[in-house]
Amino acid sequence: TYVVTDNCIRCKYTDCVEVCPVDCFYEGENFLVIHPDECIDCGVCEPECPAEAIKPDTEPGLDKWLKLNAEYAQIWPNITVKRDALPEAKEMDGVENKFEQYFS
Ligand code: SF4
Ligand code: F3S
Repeated sequence: TYVVTDNCIRCKYTDCVEVCPVDCFYEGENFLVIHPDECIDCGVCEPECPAEAIKPDTEPGLDKWLKLNAEYAQIWPNITVKRDALPEAKEMDGVENKFEQYFS
């Protein structure tokens, strides 16, 4: 599966949802997650994210993010249509450790 990681937080560009052939993105207030059981590993969303927040779970160190994506995909609503990025997206792009700072 692919996973949404830290840099999506408070950017939420949503370009990713437009290209997903199986509509497996789910939306929280500050960021999106991918449902790991629905993702077919096609990889098309990865280059679409302006924040480079989407990674294959084969990359090392993503256990926490895989868990988080799996957990919130069950709770948050499905999103299939692109919307405006969050107003602070530009300033927040590249800020480190957003999860620790902004996720509550
Ligand atoms: Fe959707 Fe493909 Fe991205 Fe998985 S890898 S979330 S199936 S676009
Ligand atoms: Fe987030 Fe990138 Fe999608 S910032 S909403 S994963 S396009």
